[in-house]
Amino acid sequence: MKVFIGYVSLSGNTEKMAIIMKNRLAAAGCKVYMERLDTVEVDTLKEYDLAFIGLYTWNKDEVPYEAKEFYEEIEQIHPPNVKVAYFGSGNLNDENPCAAIHILSEKMKERGFQVYDSILKVHQEPTIYDQVKKCEEFADHVLIWGRKKRKWRFLSLNGMLLFPKYDGSAYL
Ligand SMILES: Cc1cc2nc3c(=O)[nH]c(=O)nc-3n(C[C@H](O)[C@H](O)[C@H](O)COP(=O)(O)O)c2cc1C
Repeated sequence: MKVFIGYVSLSGNTEKMAIIMKNRLAAAGCKVYMERLDTVEVDTLKEYDLAFIGLYTWNKDEVPYEAKEFYEEIEQIHPPNVKVAYFGSGNLNDENPCAAIHILSEKMKERGFQVYDSILKVHQEPTIYDQVKKCEEFADHVLIWGRKKRKWRFLSLNGMLLFPKYDGSAYL
């Protein structure tokens, strides 16, 4: 499975999460490509089966400036057939922690991207064992989700099979 990890990180905490997951996914046999989000275009996601997008949060009302172009491009392209999961470091004591991640992931959902149901959030630096494990387990769960095939069902009329119809769920 070809996996992309794109992130923005000012003080390195989100980047550390990305590295933990990169190592985990590579150990599971994935080909993993990791880049800073401000160096890629949304369209490049079409080259991958699965993508992890990571952001820090400094301002709850907007995505970090390094991710702004990426955010704007989401409006402009037809969603490629890639599954996307979100992660990031923030202040989990904040009343709305890691808000920037929600802004970007909601935008992708609105546009019809297949987005994983839960977001991985770590408080500041992922150093203690529990936080590292949380990142590894998230990578495992997303990988299982990413490997699931879309389900197709056939419409039938009087017992005759007609054309296949995708049932639309991203969480099969
Ligand atoms: C000026 C400033 C504002 C911040 N605002 C938020 C915030 O609104 N919500 C949040 O969850 N974390 C907030 N944080 C915490 C950072 O997101 C956190 O330190 C994170 O680990 C930074 O990630 P990075 O190391 O990948 O840059 C803020 C930190 C700073 C320094």
